[in-house]
Amino acid sequence: MEKRGQWSSRFTFILAAIGSAVGLGNAWRFPGLAAKHGGGTFLVVYLLAMLVMGIPLLMMEIAVSRKFRKGAIESMRGIGKKWEPVGWAATSNAFVIVCYYSVVFAWVILMFINSWQFAGMTGLPAEEKVAKAGGLFDKLTHTTGAVDGTLIPGQVLLCLLIAWGLIFFCIRNGAKSVGKVVKFTVFAPVVLLLIMAIKGCTMPGAMEGVKILFVPDMNAFSDPTLWTDAIGQVFYSLSIMMAIMFAYGSYLGDDADIALDAVIIAFSDMAISVLSGVVMFSTMGGTGMMDKVSASGIGTAFYIYPQAIVNLTDVGWFNAVFGAIFYLMLITLAIDSAFSIVEGISAAVADKFHLKPKSVTITVCAIAGIISILFVSQAGLAWLDIVDNWANSINLILVGILECVAIGWTFKLRKVLYEINKNAKKFKAPYWWFVASVRFIAPVLLAGLFAWNIIHLFFDEGGNYGGYPMWAVICGGWVVSAFVFASGFIAKIIIAKKKKDGFVEDEVVWED
Ligand code: PHE
Repeated sequence: MEKRGQWSSRFTFILAAIGSAVGLGNAWRFPGLAAKHGGGTFLVVYLLAMLVMGIPLLMMEIAVSRKFRKGAIESMRGIGKKWEPVGWAATSNAFVIVCYYSVVFAWVILMFINSWQFAGMTGLPAEEKVAKAGGLFDKLTHTTGAVDGTLIPGQVLLCLLIAWGLIFFCIRNGAKSVGKVVKFTVFAPVVLLLIMAIKGCTMPGAMEGVKILFVPDMNAFSDPTLWTDAIGQVFYSLSIMMAIMFAYGSYLGDDADIALDAVIIAFSDMAISVLSGVVMFSTMGGTGMMDKVSASGIGTAFYIYPQAIVNLTDVGWFNAVFGAIFYLMLITLAIDSAFSIVEGISAAVADKFHLKPKSVTITVCAIAGIISILFVSQAGLAWLDIVDNWANSINLILVGILECVAIGWTFKLRKVLYEINKNAKKFKAPYWWFVASVRFIAPVLLAGLFAWNIIHLFFDEGGNYGGYPMWAVICGGWVVSAFVFASGFIAKIIIAKKKKDGFVEDEVVWED
């Protein structure tokens, strides 16, 4: 067997983890949610959720996988044989996510390539200009918003190919190549965001927008959606429960200071979210689009921001360049999240079956690449919306609950905490905090969030998410979830068969 890849330094690991955590979620999910919930109010609750749930779970995943030196599947098996399916569920859900995350990444590349078009729009009469900019994405992707339509635009397909090419290039040699790439992909978006923040904040009216991000609205605290949104965002943003942090933790050396590293990762992630918020809101304020700031999700980047771009100045080429910078920023933001998720899957599967990591990576990229073509079709956006909702508000949360139960209730948390604090110098994770979080707070909050999502789905929407036809909701939602949670049991059958042919499973033990 090959020797397990390792990070070249502590700094590299931190960068890779930040690169994974900081993604499109920071750029358009965070600002939109913050605006929806009265800015500062959201920040406070977000910080709280980070402290009582996000950071401890991040530490837990890194510590467990560092100890076992295994990806998600084998690490969960190490916790207890019966928990292996949870590792499979995390890995399968990661697979589902990468099938469409790669497409969003491709769309960002598409908009980058087409940002020259903003130049021509700038001189048009006000209404026409905004309509054209806002409609550019639909025009390029032929999106209808409905679940039927089979047209696949060539240009978008090409961008998808570029996206997968880039992803594969970055992870072709596991920790080694990831380590090199993240030195660029983590800092580049920060620099680009700073440039945009400066331009945004120097526009008249910009501060009106930025104020929304920071001034708390005291009445908003009692709104339950504030709490569910904040908890969900912490969870999504840290890239936990996606098999990723297991893979990254498994490449760590024995001397890593997990306690401090996790805190650095979490706060960098938060800082970049806030910086993106400043960019979004100052630009919206400066271009007179304040009524649009609370939109969150894909629409922000593909429909709303283009309108802001053409309203930036009266100079066509300047707006086009600025648009290009914006989409380049999104590319550098998304790429390290996209490849981290493939790495999470590859590491988990390669460890399980003693396969060569590189061949697994190639296979995962090929299969996910083919499936992702579904999402670049005319109906892609609608399907993506459905699958994304189930992957995040059902599967991810269930995996989270199961992981907390497995590690918090059936395993000795003291051992995990020892791993976390083993090399800690300045900051040690306190026992009471860790136990309270993993055993009680995190699973309870997640269960509440899960219940909330289900109630919302059935009572507010009648089970018909987003008003899409029922058959689409079943296929894109429930069937996918069933696959995710059945995957561990299907794998068991395959493994049993392989064992007859002489395959021997690793013993994964926690050596004290
Ligand atoms: N943390 C990422 C973000 O904020 C989420 C993510 C990571 C999604 C990896 C997919 C893969 O965008």
